Amino acid sequence: MAKVISVINLKGGVAKTTTTVQLAECLSLEFGKRVLVVDLDPQTNATIALISEEKWEELDGKKQTLYHLFSDRLEKTKHFNIDNAIQREVSDLRIPKLSLLPSSIRFIDIRV
Ligand SMILES: Nc1ncnc2c1ncn2[C@@H]1O[C@H](COP(=O)(O)OP(=O)(O)O)[C@@H](O)[C@H]1O
Ligand SMILES: [Mg+2]
Repeated sequence: MAKVISVINLKGGVAKTTTTVQLAECLSLEFGKRVLVVDLDPQTNATIALISEEKWEELDGKKQTLYHLFSDRLEKTKHFNIDNAIQREVSDLRIPKLSLLPSSIRFIDIRV
């Protein structure tokens, strides 16, 4: 059974991203866990940390970020594809069991 660990705080600069990325790398590298980082933060820092800005731009251009999952629902389009969006073996460490569902700065547009 998958466990969900949420890192949430409205305040900026309190180590949400650092905790998320370090915890994900630690759980997969040191404990052999399969980890999926789900980045829902418009700042997109965890995404950039794990896959680089260039790769993010490519995925954003192809409409394969979590923003596009939401905008598909809002605009009744069908761009987002989970198999294309999910990034495997991420981080500079190329960790086999660490995957990412990327965020997008476009989330700012649909915040309530
Ligand atoms: N344990 C720590 N010790 C010192 N600096 C830290 C620590 N954790 C995070 N930081 C630094 O604090 C800043 C904010 O962290 P970040 O994870 O980006 O916060 P958030 O995602 O909550 O905005 C970053 O510059 C980060 O490097
Ligand atoms: Mg952050």
